[in-house]
Amino acid sequence: MASLTVRQLDERLKKQLRLRAASNGRSVEDEVRNILREAAECAEMRAPVAPTPSGAGAIRSMVTADTRRVLLIIGGGIAAYKTLDLIRRLKERGIAVRCILTNAAQHFATPLSVSALVGARVYTDLFDPVSEFDVGHIRLARETDLIVVAPATADLMAKMANGHADDLATAVLLATTAKIVLAPAMNPHMWANKATQRNLARLVADGAAVVGPNEGEMAEAESQGVGRMAEPLEIAGAAEKFLTAGIAGRLQGRRILITSGPTHEPIDPVRYIANRSSGKQGHSIAAAAETEGGNVTLISGPVNLPDPPGVKMIKVESAREMLRAVERTLPVDVAIFAAAVADWRVANAGHHKLKKQFGHATPELALVENPDILATIAGRKTQRPKLVIGFAAETENVVANAKAKLARKHCDWILANDVSPQSGVMGGDHNTITLVRASSVEAWPPQSKDAVSSMLITRIADALDEKGENR
Ligand SMILES: Cc1cc2nc3c(=O)[nH]c(=O)nc-3n(C[C@H](O)[C@H](O)[C@H](O)COP(=O)(O)O)c2cc1C
Repeated sequence: MASLTVRQLDERLKKQLRLRAASNGRSVEDEVRNILREAAECAEMRAPVAPTPSGAGAIRSMVTADTRRVLLIIGGGIAAYKTLDLIRRLKERGIAVRCILTNAAQHFATPLSVSALVGARVYTDLFDPVSEFDVGHIRLARETDLIVVAPATADLMAKMANGHADDLATAVLLATTAKIVLAPAMNPHMWANKATQRNLARLVADGAAVVGPNEGEMAEAESQGVGRMAEPLEIAGAAEKFLTAGIAGRLQGRRILITSGPTHEPIDPVRYIANRSSGKQGHSIAAAAETEGGNVTLISGPVNLPDPPGVKMIKVESAREMLRAVERTLPVDVAIFAAAVADWRVANAGHHKLKKQFGHATPELALVENPDILATIAGRKTQRPKLVIGFAAETENVVANAKAKLARKHCDWILANDVSPQSGVMGGDHNTITLVRASSVEAWPPQSKDAVSSMLITRIADALDEKGENR
């Protein structure tokens, strides 16, 4: 290797070097070594790896400017051992990986084995004099396209949700503007705990994406339930999707139709039959679909909510108006029917205000069935959306009724929720969803309506990707 003498540098550079070395308490030679080491790490970070069937050992580097970069933050859970495979899976996809291990993580995966797989040093300490001479944690936060937290421990999620920054991992997570993907892993009771679910909902509302956790056998003896970390392939696949979607969003070029709110069915020009739907869930889904780049039309009954920005709004009153607006909006790729459409309307609605007249009988309202918007669109022979999704608002036998509805209406998915008064769903900010498909039933945790929207949009984007449909 060629040797370099500080004396050969020009005076201005020498002066800068001396000042920098003095302020960092190092000799000039040490400062030069440090600068070279950092430069080498940056080059490493920019170097993608060729896909190789023989694993990490056979990796070859080739430097390009558009290498995709992931910062993997490893938390202190048993599933940390799986991140060794995750690093391989990311590198196989040509993704450059840097790693931070929390203090707790180092009990489960050693910095040595992680750095051997990454092929570069790993980061563990916020107050590391080597990497912090130029505020290295900010560089780590900045020099990445995506952050993956795996396993995302209950503790790490709590700290993130509350904006802590008392170690390297949390300081970087707070300082980054990159998208964050969480792969939670913990004991099922820890996962179901209200505190964890509260933190999760807050993180999702703040823009974090979540992969897993899955249901299955846990590391502790005889423990089973939801809390198992998603498999490395799943996490690497999710990371790849977020890196690919980038700014464009995963629904870029997709036409998405959403209905929201109640319908008002007139009794006469001033009175109507309505329901308690607030439109919060439907409007939130529309906003989430728009954020992911979808071309969104929101057809809404009367609500007291602002129009989501960037969304085409069509405001209607009755079920029949809503159906007409839906049909006029076709063709679309995905139709999500979140509106609480009245099942019946008044057959003999008055053209003039009904008058209360002394001595006259109370008026009788005859009801007639409204068109079934979900079944009508799901049953279309032409212009049927690729994905037709309905909601089932139930007060009892939620899953059984949702399954029956899926079969009866020929739609693709039903999002079932318990709307009994004690659930607080109608008009509230939270929802507990069970996603019912022909082949599976998936119980989602109780969470904010925004978090539900985010999960739904992820599932929709996954399904469209799997179908391999053109945009
Ligand atoms: C054997 C053992 C296994 C653990 N597994 C998990 C786990 O899977 N998920 C979790 O959230 N916490 C787990 N913990 C607790 C965390 O290690 C602990 O909350 C720690 O503070 C997390 O730190 P970190 O979030 O900074 O990595 C485990 C602890 C021990 C001793």
